[in-house]
Amino acid sequence: MKLTIFAATGGIGRQLLEQAIAAGHDVTAVARNPQNLSPIPARAVAADLASADPAVLQPALAGADAVLSALGPRTKADAGVAARGTKVITQAMRAAGIRRVIVVSAAPIGTVPSPGRPHPPRHDPGDGFILRYLADPIVKRALRDHYADLALRASDLDWTIVRPPRLTSKPVTGRYRTAFGQNLRRGLFVARADVAHYMLSILDQPGTFRQTIGIAN
Ligand SMILES: NC(=O)c1ccc[n+]([C@@H]2O[C@H](COP(=O)([O-])OP(=O)(O)OC[C@H]3O[C@@H](n4cnc5c(N)ncnc54)[C@H](OP(=O)(O)O)[C@@H]3O)[C@@H](O)[C@H]2O)c1
Repeated sequence: MKLTIFAATGGIGRQLLEQAIAAGHDVTAVARNPQNLSPIPARAVAADLASADPAVLQPALAGADAVLSALGPRTKADAGVAARGTKVITQAMRAAGIRRVIVVSAAPIGTVPSPGRPHPPRHDPGDGFILRYLADPIVKRALRDHYADLALRASDLDWTIVRPPRLTSKPVTGRYRTAFGQNLRRGLFVARADVAHYMLSILDQPGTFRQTIGIAN
């Protein structure tokens, strides 16, 4: 497939890029600092998604079958970039006539209200005691407006939101659990490489369209 990968310099982004190329996809990588991209055969397009105009992204999207994004804040200065940047990506996709998009969000976001889902459940059925009562409220307060989910839920695209818990830098295994619409019981970690593996595996699976999917080891 012809793929456009946003934030291809990040932990998950690099994995998406490397695994997509290895699988034979035709890849365009988008990064604010293209000089930091892995030295592999992919077209590179520079874009700072904190301030990009959707028109700037058109060269990166031309002819793409699908879009993958692992955009997220690298530092405090990037706060809010996932929500803002994903909105710009969706606007640019609509202009380019591309429908399929898969993005990374985070496990605690399932119980945060959003425009397309104003009354989410108070607790995620997959969350155990610690996530439910201690970590979860703190993380949610800190991250509320920062995730990509806001932009996607309000769109009519064929989106999938993948929600990992804590990320590790372990190698790809292809062995992980997933759950539609909820987090995973006792699923506290997952490798960035396995998140990328899963994102690539569902590119052409209509059953995952308009779904949020928990993933964990
Ligand atoms: N850390 C965790 O345990 C955890 C758990 C659950 C979910 N998540 C979510 O998963 C996301 C991906 O994780 P990761 O480890 O791959 O993150 P990461 O290594 O920090 O990568 C973030 C990517 O976003 C890019 N980016 C940030 N601001 C940008 C901007 N203004 N314009 C263009 N690109 C920009 C970064 O570009 P540069 O390379 O130029 O900085 C980088 O490519 C996280 O950001 C977070 O939202 C994280």
